[in-house]
Amino acid sequence: MFYSKPSTFPKDFLWGASTSAYQVEGCADSHGKGLSVQDLHRPINQADFKDASDHYHHFKEDVALMKQLGLKAYRFSISWSRVFPKGTGQINEEGLEFYHNLIDELCNAGIEPVVTLYHFDLPLALHEQGGWSNPETIDAFVDYASLMFEEFKGQVRYWLTINEQNVMINHPNAMYPGKVPSQKELYQQNHNMFLAGAKACILLHEMDPQAKIGPAPNIIAVYPKTCRPEDIIAADNWEAIRDWLYMDVYVRGEYNPLAWAYLEEKGLAPEIAPGDMEILKNARPDFLGVNYYATATVSAAKNDGHDRQPRNGDQQTMVGEEGVFRAEENDLLQNTDFGWKIDPVGMRTTLRRIYDRYHLPLLITENGIGSLDVLEEDGSIHDDYRIDYLTRHFKQAGLAIQDGVDLIGYCPWSLIDLVSTHQGYKKRYGFVYVNRGETELKDMKRYPKDSYYWYQDTIAQNGANL
Ligand code: BG6
Repeated sequence: MFYSKPSTFPKDFLWGASTSAYQVEGCADSHGKGLSVQDLHRPINQADFKDASDHYHHFKEDVALMKQLGLKAYRFSISWSRVFPKGTGQINEEGLEFYHNLIDELCNAGIEPVVTLYHFDLPLALHEQGGWSNPETIDAFVDYASLMFEEFKGQVRYWLTINEQNVMINHPNAMYPGKVPSQKELYQQNHNMFLAGAKACILLHEMDPQAKIGPAPNIIAVYPKTCRPEDIIAADNWEAIRDWLYMDVYVRGEYNPLAWAYLEEKGLAPEIAPGDMEILKNARPDFLGVNYYATATVSAAKNDGHDRQPRNGDQQTMVGEEGVFRAEENDLLQNTDFGWKIDPVGMRTTLRRIYDRYHLPLLITENGIGSLDVLEEDGSIHDDYRIDYLTRHFKQAGLAIQDGVDLIGYCPWSLIDLVSTHQGYKKRYGFVYVNRGETELKDMKRYPKDSYYWYQDTIAQNGANL
């Protein structure tokens, strides 16, 4: 459909940017912080999370850069094990003070903090006691959430419970040092995470009725490879298993029927204790965070032993599942330097589908392009591909708003360069270049990229330049 008027963004639109604690902070094993599961990743010849982007020491400078950028919102996560080194019990006062200082700095700069409670970095001590398989982790999470809600009441108005729970279940390799749990165990953990998020949601509504809370899953539209009816069914099934399984529990307090049929068929259905569904029903989010990078394309499974392809799968690269779907290439789309599809229209489709199902305000909590950026001798970084990528995605966000989607903000990934979960430091996402190498730390100096100045202009014009 063509619109006769150009799309516009609401005047209070939250132009933002995102990061997560373990990917930027550094000081992973100092200043009283306990280790998290992420801190055990020690890849050879690739950045680990020990020093990351040293945001712990540069946060004032980083907030000043945000202010200069004109940012309305900053989405970041609190490191659970920096606050509770063992996940529960004794508080690390210095860690708590760090977040007070960061949030004060943001509020003084007029930037809305959008705070994720848990972004992949489960405290190692809890992991060693069974992690999400142990129901006591639910209690630990709720105690941690309760402290955060108490400490930051009146300052933090947007909370996110759990980042990409669906990625932790579908692509668990990066989340589990050592042995990756069986799929059966993962879906039980998933159920426990649902309960943890729901209890935090209920708690915030009691403790701070002015504040809002929602999840931040990685949601993507799934395309059928052809209009063959069997391909349509396969796309619907994978979308239900990958996306709606999570969203339906978050918003409706129900397991999606297509996803549940899959879980039963595969013997993966979790045990549900009496009272669990009531808790899930009583926890309605105020808004939905959406991490979007790229769509997926699938065809019908053949169930011949070859539905799953032998290629590396990450959160955006599907491998297929025997008897469920086959992963397909979408030849109509271009790839990033790191092989992810670029599909701005797919983002509009995704936003429309989510809004159509749930009718809740949406906040894009991640979207961006990981690239091999180059720091020139004069300190400039010419990332025109990032400007192009974001221009195309912002335009589609504008069209989604015109379509009737209540999109309240957009936080690209990422504010500053950070350690990519899969590809270390060479895969850069930031508006701001951080001068460190893959393993060589250098001086960590910050350099605004061309995209930084372009985004500054975009925010100043509320998207009218797009
Ligand atoms: C999301 C995560 O899955 O994608 C981020 O929430 C992550 O933590 C981002 O960094 C990009 O993925 P990657 O593997 O390129 O770092």
